[in-house]
Order: sequence, then C-alpha cells, then structure tokens
Amino acid sequence: MHNYQAPNDLLSDKIILVTGASDGIGKEAAISYARLGATVVLLGRSQEKLEDVYDLIESAGGPQPAIVPLNLESAVEQDYKQLADTIEQEFGRLDGLLLNASILGDITPIESYPVEQWARVMQINVNSQFAITKALLPLLKQSNAGSIIFTTSSVGRKGRAHWGAYGVSKFATEGLMQTLTDELENTCAVRVNCINPGATRTAMRANAYPAEDPATVCHPKDIMGLYHFLMGNESLDTKGQSLDAQPK
Ligand SMILES: NC(=O)c1ccc[n+]([C@@H]2O[C@H](COP(=O)([O-])OP(=O)(O)OC[C@H]3O[C@@H](n4cnc5c(N)ncnc54)[C@H](OP(=O)(O)O)[C@@H]3O)[C@@H](O)[C@H]2O)c1
Repeated sequence: MHNYQAPNDLLSDKIILVTGASDGIGKEAAISYARLGATVVLLGRSQEKLEDVYDLIESAGGPQPAIVPLNLESAVEQDYKQLADTIEQEFGRLDGLLLNASILGDITPIESYPVEQWARVMQINVNSQFAITKALLPLLKQSNAGSIIFTTSSVGRKGRAHWGAYGVSKFATEGLMQTLTDELENTCAVRVNCINPGATRTAMRANAYPAEDPATVCHPKDIMGLYHFLMGNESLDTKGQSLDAQPK
C-alpha cells in the first residue's frame, strides 16, 4: 500500500472532508484528493491559508472545493452540527473524513508537563475528533462506501518518554478508531482506520526535531499512497487497521 498508484479517477464524485487542510500532510492530502476527482471540504483554523489551498486546487482544474474555517480548540457541539447541516444541504452525504489536524504540545517529562497545555492537546487531538466524527457519522452512513481515517503516530502505539500529551492523545485516537470499528461492524458501509504517516517534512516535524536536516525526511507527497488507498473503493474490506504510510 505504500507504493499504491491511484487511478486518475479513484475519487471522482466523492465528497471528502480533511481537517488541518491548511498545511503539511493535510494540505497535500486535500490537493491530491482533488486531483483524483474528489470535491474536498477544507477545514482549518486559518482562512487565509485555506484560501491558498483552494486556489491551488482551482488552478489545477480540480472540482471546486469548500472552505470551513474552524478552530478545533474552541469549537463547540453547535459548530459541528452546523457543519453537518451545511454539508447535508450542499451534498447530501459525506464519503470520506480524514482526521489529520493535531498539535504537538510540549516535549517534556510528565512530572513537569503544564496542565493547561495537556488539556489543549487533548481538546484538539482527541475531543474535537470525537465531536466532529459524532456529528458527521450520519452523513457518512449516507455514502455507499464511507471511509474515516484517523491520524496516529508511533508514540501512540508504544509510550515514549517526554512525548506527554501528544503520545497519549494518539493512544486515544487508536482507541477511538477501534471502538468505532467495533460499533459499525456489519451495520453500515463505513470503514474506519488509522494512518501513521511516519517522519514527514512538515512544520510539526521541524518543531519536534529542530536539529534535524529536513531534507533527510520524506515530503508529504511521498506518503500519499496509503492516504489514497484508504479513501478509494479498493480498500472497502480494510477495517480497524492502524497502518504505516512508510515502509519500516
Ligand atoms: N510530520 C510528521 O512527521 C508526523 C509523524 C507522525 C504523525 N503525524 C501526524 O500527522 C498529522 C499531520 O501533521 P503535520 O506534520 O502535517 O502537522 P502540521 O504541518 O503542523 O499541520 C497540522 C495541521 O493541523 C492544523 N491545526 C492545528 N491546530 C488546529 C486547530 N486548533 N484547529 C484547526 N486546525 C488545526 C494546522 O493548521 P494551521 O495551518 O493553522 O497551523 C495544520 O493545517 C498530525 O495528526 C500529526 O500528529 C505527523
């Protein structure tokens, strides 16, 4: 799946929402989903950055995307309900949901981890993902092949010193994916999986590893095979998996 080569029309007629579509991996995923034919709903906190992604998609001749400026730190249930209502009015369903937005928080031992920062990381990386998934699930059930992709990390599979709230938030993400998979089993056509992108050249990576030469880690473009596979209909039988976007 790392080397999956998507056919040009893999996602034609699909409606896909990407969180954190303004930068890094989410931006690349949104642009490439549009290139493969999807109408993409771009969610992020910076309207300006989302407009840049919108322009890139439009100038490449992709289907006209939609922009949803929303700060996942402060959004409340009503915001997610409004988002679901808007998507329902515009499209009547949702075929794909890529839950990609996250923050890193502090890299520090638990003993000195700031309590407020812990809550902030959990709010953005976990609570908002639950709330948006809850609100959008009825629309995903309207699809004949709905796909939810959560974003995990190697520190969310085995605890690592100093990765604090970020690592714990990714354990929770894996748990949410597994819980949903079990609940949806045999009840609807929505499948749920996690992607671990692995080391990827983004602002978050540079923040976590300031001494690293960015040229030594791969570009978001290089890891898109799995992102495409899990959104396309060739992955209909892939459920409840936590998969690596890069070979080990
Ligand atoms: N890069 C890696 O090496 C790596 C490795 C393992 C896992 N991951 C995971 O991959 C995913 C993408 O990471 P990345 O490296 O692409 O990170 P990134 O470059 O920092 O991008 C994060 C995205 O999330 C958005 N975001 C952050 N806080 C938000 C909020 N409160 N409301 C709405 N949007 C918000 C950012 O918006 P702004 O543009 O406004 O900042 C940005 O679009 C994350 O889940 C991360 O944990 C990354």
